[in-house]
Amino acid sequence: MQIIITEEYPKMSLQAARFIAKKILAKSNLVLALPTGNTPLGLYCELVRMFKEGLIDFSEVAVFNLDEYLGLPPQHPQSFRSYMHKHFWDHVNLRPESCYIPLSSPKNPEAECSRYEQLIGSYGGLDLAVLGIGENGHIAFNEPGTPFESLTHVARLSPETRAREASTFGGLDKVPTHAITMGIKTIMHAREILLLASGEEKASALSRSLKGPVTPETPASILQLHPNLIVIADSLAAKQL
Ligand code: PGA
Repeated sequence: MQIIITEEYPKMSLQAARFIAKKILAKSNLVLALPTGNTPLGLYCELVRMFKEGLIDFSEVAVFNLDEYLGLPPQHPQSFRSYMHKHFWDHVNLRPESCYIPLSSPKNPEAECSRYEQLIGSYGGLDLAVLGIGENGHIAFNEPGTPFESLTHVARLSPETRAREASTFGGLDKVPTHAITMGIKTIMHAREILLLASGEEKASALSRSLKGPVTPETPASILQLHPNLIVIADSLAAKQL
């Protein structure tokens, strides 16, 4: 495990973008898993900037989102598909057919999970999974208690995760109850993992995940057993390390 602590959020974002840029320069057809949320917003800004400056070429890269809410129309402003279009996909030269995210309204959610897992497999697996971390230690929508053996599956969102999203959805009752998420095993099979954490509210989860016992009660704790884990945290998130 390598832990890089940066002073502030913008530096964390820049370091993360440089890390990804280096990987793409070394392997033009890199297969990435990508997160949504507040944490990676700066990272996407930096990647877009680097693309516009001619530093990175995404034309052969494939990207798989970690998760998507269930039950929202794809164009819903809070869907992760909308987020990815807005913050990343539409601003770089990724081929649309190489941008993957689970369907938010599949007829058969279980079949959609298998399809997604197979799609990742058809690319030979993930080269690099970029992750954020929840205050409860979740990674993607793998909430506390999720078995480490899980593949892409339908997950029930925890009450704290739903409560955190209530204001962006305009009320708790509007927050989806379920999502499709890559499983912990799907993520652990990535050849390399980049975990990002920013802000004091992540300090406890980050320290429990990196220094505490490996337990499904703290899903990110499994990352301690990954052979190639890089953590980039700003100083507030790293406070308890
Ligand atoms: P955040 O979410 O980046 O919005 O803090 C991270 C997560 O919950 O996984």
